[in-house]
Amino acid sequence: MPKKLKIINVVGARPNFMKAAPLMEQMLETPAMEPFLVHTGQHYDDRMSKFFFDDLGLPKPDMDLGVGSGSHAQQTAEIMRCFEPVLLKERPDVVVVFGDVNSTIACALTAVKLGVAVAHVEAGLRSFDRTMPEEINRVLTDAISDYLFTTEPSANENLLREGVPKEKIFPVGNLMIDTLLRHKERAQSSTILQTLNCMPQAYGVLTLHRASNVDDEEIFQSILKAVFEISQKIRVVFPCHPRTKKQIHAFGFEHFFMTRPSPFHCGILLIDPLGYLDFLRLISEAKFVLTDSGGIQEETTVLGIPCLTLRENTERPVTITEGTNVIVGTDREKIVGKTLEILNGYSLQGRIPEHWDGKASERIVRVLIDYCA
Ligand code: UD1
Repeated sequence: MPKKLKIINVVGARPNFMKAAPLMEQMLETPAMEPFLVHTGQHYDDRMSKFFFDDLGLPKPDMDLGVGSGSHAQQTAEIMRCFEPVLLKERPDVVVVFGDVNSTIACALTAVKLGVAVAHVEAGLRSFDRTMPEEINRVLTDAISDYLFTTEPSANENLLREGVPKEKIFPVGNLMIDTLLRHKERAQSSTILQTLNCMPQAYGVLTLHRASNVDDEEIFQSILKAVFEISQKIRVVFPCHPRTKKQIHAFGFEHFFMTRPSPFHCGILLIDPLGYLDFLRLISEAKFVLTDSGGIQEETTVLGIPCLTLRENTERPVTITEGTNVIVGTDREKIVGKTLEILNGYSLQGRIPEHWDGKASERIVRVLIDYCA
């Protein structure tokens, strides 16, 4: 029997799970492949991890490194220390890493030093802001990867400019959109709107977790003041990341929020992070989304929902040139002004970028079979 292509897919943090799910599924259906799933444990709360495995039908990880939180250096080093013995034992042909989190660079670096080929999903995205930890992770991971799978044209251009040979770059589309398209129907049966007492189009959604926004008291307050002002006109639902919740308490910002869903009150409704299907349903019916997430800029583009990005830049420019995304930064007046435009009927017409068609996982598996088997 011909030898199977042994692949380790590495996930660590919430945004990785949505990308790994369709790829694992495709690999498991491919007889020539033997895929493994390793969870570094960077995200460990049930709401940040287990719920996504359940919603997305991701198989239980073959290995859970249980690394947890720490400073960037501690977390990255601990992931490397725990991942190395896995590689030495399993000796895979390829390690697949996703996105830009600490688990991505840690596992790519460990693999490349052991002579194992690295494939990077979502390669080439650049915010050109080196103060973002994610930007450092992206640049370094791309520099040491053998197969660079890209989601949008800007990524191909960035990689070529950085000297990556054309032969290593594969424009395959967007795995997260594979997941979205697969689960859109199922998300219709989520009862999250009833639970939160929300009517379609009668609320906005806020997500916030970037260190640059929530670790800086002044910036965080400026954003919250803006969203509070908006929330006096239309309710804003805020599924809150654990990092952000900690900072709300540290800065004493609790007074900005209401915590119980009343049908009669406007305001910012603070809730726990949601599972994938509930969140998909929530943003699908929203009037607008305010976010500093990367992935949500892409999801709203595909759903045709106006997205206002609370950052000064984006590594996903196609969501602006083709999608429904607008960069508004963190200035209170600008956030309120742009949101009011949407409430007053201004609509952002977008179209879906090339290859965001639900077939990225097929394309990636094809490349791996053609080049590595
Ligand atoms: C990480 C990624 C970011 C990604 C985000 C999505 C890096 C550098 N950052 O940021 O790119 O957009 O995930 O969620 O990898 N925490 C919990 N429970 C958890 C996970 C984290 O309480 O399950 C707390 C940690 O204790 C820590 C904080 O949240 O205080 C930050 O967690 P960490 O994984 O370091 O980074 P994120 O901010 O989640």
